Amino acid sequence: MSSKAAAKTILTGVKPTGAPHIGNYIGAIRPALELAAAHEKSFLFIADYHALNAVRDPAALKRDSYEVAACWLALGLDPAKTVFYRQSDVPEIFELTQLLAAVTPKGLMDRAHSYKAAVDKNREAGRDADADVNMGLYTYPILMAADILAMDTDIVPVGKDQVQHIEFARDMAGYFNNTFKEAFKLPEYRLAGETGAILPGLDGRKMSKSYGNHIPVFIDSRARRKLVMKIVTDSKLPEEPKDPDNNTIFQIYAQVADASGVAALREAFIKGGMGYGDAKQKLFDALEQAFEKPTAIYNDYMADTKKIDALLAQGAERARGEARKTLSRARAATGLNPLR
Ligand code: ADP
Ligand code: TRP
Repeated sequence: MSSKAAAKTILTGVKPTGAPHIGNYIGAIRPALELAAAHEKSFLFIADYHALNAVRDPAALKRDSYEVAACWLALGLDPAKTVFYRQSDVPEIFELTQLLAAVTPKGLMDRAHSYKAAVDKNREAGRDADADVNMGLYTYPILMAADILAMDTDIVPVGKDQVQHIEFARDMAGYFNNTFKEAFKLPEYRLAGETGAILPGLDGRKMSKSYGNHIPVFIDSRARRKLVMKIVTDSKLPEEPKDPDNNTIFQIYAQVADASGVAALREAFIKGGMGYGDAKQKLFDALEQAFEKPTAIYNDYMADTKKIDALLAQGAERARGEARKTLSRARAATGLNPLR
């Protein structure tokens, strides 16, 4: 690897929360995979202990963890290169959480957006401020800092909502290093979808699970075609010129088709002569090209989750090796015995 950035370590965690749509893929999954591929060292893990603060159904936690693992594998994560593991399989992370807790002011947790949002919601509903707030939610940022610091992470690709957590991880590393001695590297965030467009959904609004206007990544061809045909368009006739930059079909196509296909569709829109039916067919073909194979891979993994277990177990071994080094260093810095 020649560039300086390439020598850095990338890490990101994903909570196991349901199947992704193509907006998630374009805005979060693809950029994280590209970043991982472009760097020498990368870590990607399933944040199952973070999920546990809210999930109360053991079967759901298990299933969702397999789903998210199968998803990343199907979309191109290379487990031989990227260290891919379950958070819960790396006990060193939890010991590190305790070391960080010792130097983390309570006030920092009080200022966390996610905790404050829960408190505000309770107040609005006229309930006790801390109703339904468990200690897992309250100390969420400490566990997340341990996830990051354990692997000597340089860069954490995240969505906007996670930026504060990375800043907190930096703060905690700084408190620790200043209180004892330099044991942790200070991580930086990288907004994952920074340059990418917001993908519109079937009705033209931002594609989102909460609007129900999304196209899931892993569906069969028939369902995919049906959804594409549902994309809302205006009533322009085929021969009329159309503005590609204000068109849902084109905008989705632009993210999944190759450059020459995108240029050709753009020109056809501007010139006129391209009907929406034909454009939808082109989009469907491009989506098939992009997601038919990943869907088959995804289904294979879900049909044989032992394969996932085996890969994640290998990843956990590698992750534990890294985490032990950091933990031992941090323990020694405090006056505790290093690990043997
Ligand atoms: P949803 O709105 O469907 O609940 P999330 O808010 O869980 O999606 O988003 C998860 C990740 O996917 C975030 O990093 C977000 O930036 C990205 N993402 C979600 N929807 C889109 C979209 N329509 N276009 C681009 N990126 C998106
Ligand atoms: N909190 C992140 C989310 O909700 C998931 C996460 C847990 C994470 N630990 C992490 C992300 C460490 C980046 C780095 O999306």
